[in-house]
Amino acid sequence: MSGRLWGSRFSGRLDERIDRLSRSLPFDRRLFEQDIDGSAAWARALRRIGVLTAGELKAVLAGLEKVRGEFRQNRFRARATDEDIHTAVERRLTDLVGAPGRKLHTGRSRNDQVACDLHLWLKQEAARAAKHLSELAASLLDLAKRSIDVVLPAYTHLQRAQPVLAAHHLLAYVEMLARDRKRFVHAHAGADVLPLGCGAATGVAFPIDRTALARELGFKRVARNSMDAVGSRDAALEFLAACSICGVHMSRLGEEIVLWASSEFGFLRLDDRVATGSSLMPQKRNPDGAELARGKAGRLLGHFVALAATLKGLPLAYNKDLQEDKEACFDAADTLDGVSAALRATLERSGFDTARCAQALRGGHLLATELADYLVRKRVPFRRAHEIVGGLVAAADKRSVDVTELPLEVLREAAPEFEPDVRKALTIAAALGARKAVGGTAPGRVRRELQAWRRRLASWGESPI
Ligand code: ARG
Repeated sequence: MSGRLWGSRFSGRLDERIDRLSRSLPFDRRLFEQDIDGSAAWARALRRIGVLTAGELKAVLAGLEKVRGEFRQNRFRARATDEDIHTAVERRLTDLVGAPGRKLHTGRSRNDQVACDLHLWLKQEAARAAKHLSELAASLLDLAKRSIDVVLPAYTHLQRAQPVLAAHHLLAYVEMLARDRKRFVHAHAGADVLPLGCGAATGVAFPIDRTALARELGFKRVARNSMDAVGSRDAALEFLAACSICGVHMSRLGEEIVLWASSEFGFLRLDDRVATGSSLMPQKRNPDGAELARGKAGRLLGHFVALAATLKGLPLAYNKDLQEDKEACFDAADTLDGVSAALRATLERSGFDTARCAQALRGGHLLATELADYLVRKRVPFRRAHEIVGGLVAAADKRSVDVTELPLEVLREAAPEFEPDVRKALTIAAALGARKAVGGTAPGRVRRELQAWRRRLASWGESPI
């Protein structure tokens, strides 16, 4: 006897070193709500087929609620033989209610039980992540609205390219987060399948109504193959993939904030409440939240890779390796939570430095494309216009001025099509205003996009998943 739920055929105690590596209660206690919900539904299913009497069901349900209370209030006292959350709940239930507790595991295995707990948890967390992403998107929208008049250089290759509204730049991240949110909706659907009632590997030998069980636990569908149901973890992989891709997007946003808040760019001012100091250099104001948004992405990607690597060589069906799924998922959910909250704080407590942004528009020949487009409107083929303006940029560089500052005679020497009206085309406002087509940074277009996003976000709020 070993004091364990499976102990009767074993003589001698489990070697401490094996036990230490294999126990999962320290982390899977996080699944206690799901485990108790699943157990209560299973008990009702057992009642429906006569395995439990009405009285026994009542005792089991009351006992499970007591165990739930103990976990919730942090009063649960684990025994050394409680390997994981499933054995802990069942053991404690049996301590509390006696004989009926010993019937609960009829037809059930920890293999279908753990898959069921995990699916319930994944659904909850995918919905939460989706909600957090809409909140982060709302913070971006809010900063975009507050900064509707701010113009920045857009960069390609991190070289100044063309003027862009700061709001347009921020809305790019809203687009990314909206796709991320969709991936969580998809991950939610992937987990919305009931594994319980598949037994250890080959199905349940009692006439359990799995459709009723699914309905009771809020699952849309019932897993159709027991080996798949207990041996697969791609629902977790989908969740981790969604976390990873979203983490990559939040990392890029973090990097952008780090750059913008640097003295070199100086575009964004972080409020004291979202900047940290240095223990040595009194002048420092560091954007730690944004840096960690960048830093945590690797960890999210790591969790996806770790679980994918765990799965790739596994024969069907359940193998203990699958226990590795939980810490990856738990940490990914917590990391994503932390990062999106810190980014929200940073965005809410930041504002653009309009003067520094305007100053950055002055160098770098940001309107060179406008000059070429002007010639195109005068019927010069674009390739030729590009060459002409290239020459003008070189001439401007030689004089250490911006291409827009070259005298009209110099422009006309390069191309007779230049006329005095070229000055009108060579303003930031004209450059922005010209980009009216869908997807462009024209102020009217960006304002409409902001409104459309506000409506979309409100509709997400109404139906969270
Ligand atoms: N703690 C285990 C896990 O997380 C539960 C399933 C154990 N099943 C078993 N046959 N030992 O995967």
